[in-house]
Parts: sequence; structure tokens; C-alpha cells
Amino acid sequence: EGVEQRVFTGVLPAWDRVEEAVQDAHRRSSSAADGSVADYIPALANADPDLFGVCVVETDGAVHGAGDTDAAFSIQSVSKVLTYALASDTVGHDVIAERIGVNSTGQSFDSVMAIELNGGHTMNPMVNAGAIATTALLPGADAGERWEILHDAFSRFAGRSLELDEDVYRSEAEHNQRNMAIARLLESYGRLDVEPLEIVDVYTKQCSLRVTARDLAVMGATLADGGVNPVTDDHVVSPEACTATLAVMATSGLYERSGEWLFEIGIPGKSGVSGGILAVVPGKAGIGVYSPPLDDAGNSVRGQRSLAYLSRVLGLNLF
Ligand code: DON
Repeated sequence: EGVEQRVFTGVLPAWDRVEEAVQDAHRRSSSAADGSVADYIPALANADPDLFGVCVVETDGAVHGAGDTDAAFSIQSVSKVLTYALASDTVGHDVIAERIGVNSTGQSFDSVMAIELNGGHTMNPMVNAGAIATTALLPGADAGERWEILHDAFSRFAGRSLELDEDVYRSEAEHNQRNMAIARLLESYGRLDVEPLEIVDVYTKQCSLRVTARDLAVMGATLADGGVNPVTDDHVVSPEACTATLAVMATSGLYERSGEWLFEIGIPGKSGVSGGILAVVPGKAGIGVYSPPLDDAGNSVRGQRSLAYLSRVLGLNLF
């Protein structure tokens, strides 16, 4: 209470060493041929499996990229990170902790059982149930206003105005029965204060915003930098909101593989089913990776491999 939070600052290796590591991470991980592109949302099945981009943005604004860093894709579950940071910033630490939860489910990202096993409470904001409940906490008189607030904040995280991928949005909206069921279930437990299907629509739109690997790296650098976008100098969210967000990314960002991720890579991360991963090295950098083929938990195969390499050679592991 009343004590100002300091942002941890460390140092990365020199600029040219980071540059070389990003090129090497891309080259060494390109050959990984396993994994398959998500198809449970039909529009995602059209993704080019060969696209692969790796980008690091340092908290001083330096940008290092290799491969397809400007290829656009729908942000999908990586959006959960930004919505959570925004909601934490708006409703505060205690409310968000009590309403959403901060423990890993150990279940898949769209688990209904995780809600049932937890007495109707969501367990964390990085899986669908908790993410939908987090979107519902955003300020705004109605779904339209919540969407505007969210869209504006996501764009400020990226440092540019983000566009909706209409094809993905429409495709997902037509195949969204499971998320609607999750929202109705939360409503039945008295855990949603807004109209369930309207909030699922805002959630579906947030997942359909188009980003690039570079955008994810800038967003990650903003979280690494206590909420200040290092490219635009815009104060997007508070340091406290960033700290809370990094904690839930560390415990739950890679679904039921979150423990393995932390064990091998050792920094907060969040994956999405379109093949993006956003990772954060507190005080130092954000990393964005895009490669559509996924493992069976829904995490980008080349994304994980390149991040493991970067973590090792640049000494990013927090532990
Ligand atoms: O709600 C869905 O199923 C997708 N919009 C996002 C899924 C995803 O990326 C994995 N989630 N944690």
C-alpha cells in the first residue's frame, strides 16, 4: 500500500549479439517440421504452415527481426494477456484476483470441467473461461463500448491501429458453441454480470484482431517495461497491472504445458492457436514469434523451439 513499485531492469547482451541470436534462432528452428495447423476454427486452417517470424524488441526500443515478422495473423489467445492487463489496470489487483483466479487448471484451454471442479469459479485468465470473464470486467456501458476500449488499448500496446480479421471473426462466430456454453455456465453460477452472448462476441472479436510477430514483440516489450510502450513512449497500463499479468502468464500461459514451458524456457509466455507466442523478459525485452503448426496442446512448435534457443544463448531464464 502506497509503496511505488519498481520495474526490474537488467541488461541484455550487446546489440549485435542479440541480433545474431535472433537470426540463429530463426535458422535453427526453421527445419522443425512437426505439428499441425489448427482447424477447429475453419478460417485458421488456411494459414501457410511455412510462415515463420521471430522478433525481439528491447525496452530501449531496439528491434531485431528474422523471417516473416510482418506476416499478419489473428492474435487469438495471446489477446488474453492484454485484456487481463487492461482489466487489472481498471478494476485493480484485489478485484481481479478474487473474480478471475490465478491458479493453473491443468486442463485444456477450453475446458468446461475446470469450471465445474472449481465450484463455478474461473481459475485463471489465460484459458477461455477466465478470459471471457475478464473481458466482462472491462469498463463500458455496453458491449460496443467495451469493444472500443479494448480495441484502443490493444492498438496502443502495438503502437499502431490494429484491424479486425473479418474472415476469422465470422468463421469463429459461427463455430463458437463451446465458448457460448462456457459463458452460460459461468452465468448459471452467478459469475458473469453482463449478457453472456454479448461478451462472447467481444471476446471473439478480440481474438480476431490482426497482428504480426513484430506487434507481439512490441506488446511484450510494453509489459516488460512496466506498461510503457518503448517504441511510442505511450503509458498503456500501470506497472502493477504488468506484474500481475506476468505472474499469470508464467503459471498458465502455455495451457497444460505451462510447467514444462517455465522449466525449459523460464520466462512468462502466452501462446495462441493461430501460431503466435508472446514472451516477456521483465525489464529487458518482449519477444514475438509466429509459426502456425502446433503441438497437441495448441502451442507453436517452432515458436517454442526458437524461444528455448533465445532463452539459453541470451541468458533470459529468470531462475
Ligand atoms: O476461443 C477460442 O477458442 C479461440 N478464439 C482462442 C483459442 C486459443 O488461441 C487458445 N486459448 N487459450
